[in-house]
Amino acid sequence: MINFGIVGCGVISTSHAQAIKATQGAELLAVCDIVEEKAQKTAAEYGVGRYFTDYRKMLELKALDAICICTPSGLHSDHTVLAAQAGKHVLCEKPLDIAKEKMDLMIEECRRHNVKLAGIFQRRTGKNVQELKAALQLGELGKIVLADTYLKYYRSQEYYNSAGWRGTWELDGGGALMNQGVHGIDLVQWLLGGVKKVFAKAGTLARKIEVEDTAVIIVEFNNGAFGVIEGTTTVYPAQSTRLEIHGELGTIILEESEIKKWEVIGGKDRAAGFAAEEHVGGSADNKAISATGHQLQVQDLVEAIRLDREPMIPGEEARKAVDLILAIYESSRTGKEIEL
Ligand SMILES: NC(=O)c1ccc[n+]([C@@H]2O[C@H](COP(=O)([O-])OP(=O)(O)OC[C@H]3O[C@@H](n4cnc5c(N)ncnc54)[C@H](O)[C@@H]3O)[C@@H](O)[C@H]2O)c1
Repeated sequence: MINFGIVGCGVISTSHAQAIKATQGAELLAVCDIVEEKAQKTAAEYGVGRYFTDYRKMLELKALDAICICTPSGLHSDHTVLAAQAGKHVLCEKPLDIAKEKMDLMIEECRRHNVKLAGIFQRRTGKNVQELKAALQLGELGKIVLADTYLKYYRSQEYYNSAGWRGTWELDGGGALMNQGVHGIDLVQWLLGGVKKVFAKAGTLARKIEVEDTAVIIVEFNNGAFGVIEGTTTVYPAQSTRLEIHGELGTIILEESEIKKWEVIGGKDRAAGFAAEEHVGGSADNKAISATGHQLQVQDLVEAIRLDREPMIPGEEARKAVDLILAIYESSRTGKEIEL
């Protein structure tokens, strides 16, 4: 049995609690939040014996094997390092952290203490996305020329006001891209095999927040393809997130987790043949996020610990989207194209 603890009992902690409960060989042993009522409520809701308001105290529990980090983004590295030093494996929410040096440190400390570090990117776990990745690796679309990513979310001012850390550089580390868009940005950089250069414009057009609520980016991928990324949290109504990949031989279009087009020269559109999948959700409502992907990632971490193998998304892999977003911010700030 792999015993889990959760730190941060806010919105996303419920996905982790449900995921742990649904995973054979995993048990939720303790939860922690600096706000006692939140820790207590989560413990009661999921039948957890222990709750804490002091994270270091929770980490003293010998029986704990792994920690789900569900605190504000700018605390992920601090909380991961403490877990690693206590000998606990880590499943860290996205983004891995919001600063390069802090990501370096958390990855280093987990390696040094010989514990696993897995980053959450639940959109990678869907069956359709996995098939898409395999098709691209097999070269089904031929040379890729364009990969466009549209991430048009809606988050009201009330959403930003709902927790003090939201929309701040210090703890959110960014806005439409670092918090919401990071999912789609991770997906496209992973599917295409990494990004070489970005040229970006990011701004705060509609919300009263420090960070960007809207951004457009020109991308050059490592494989030579071009693309655009549009990210916002101010579009009403929110649009389904969309990824359009075009190669010299065909096109695949993904909307949320659904294949909308899969057509290759000489064949018919195969989109209808792909099973409808539970939407990962979240473009309109931050509380409407499915726990299915989290469950697959909890299960993966349990197996990674047991078999002493790398998790599906190790820290080094989870940081790529953050490094890319930091390059986008630098481009927007300096007006220059940035090479990664
Ligand atoms: N994978 C996804 O789809 C997804 C969705 C939402 C949020 N997230 C990520 O999860 C993280 C949390 O987001 P949220 O929306 O749940 O935020 P939230 O504000 O609802 O919850 C954060 C919780 O952490 C607690 N906390 C803060 N500092 C703490 C500390 N030092 N020790 C213990 N608890 C502390 C707060 O009291 C709060 O209850 C963020 O990094 C966010 O990007 C991921």
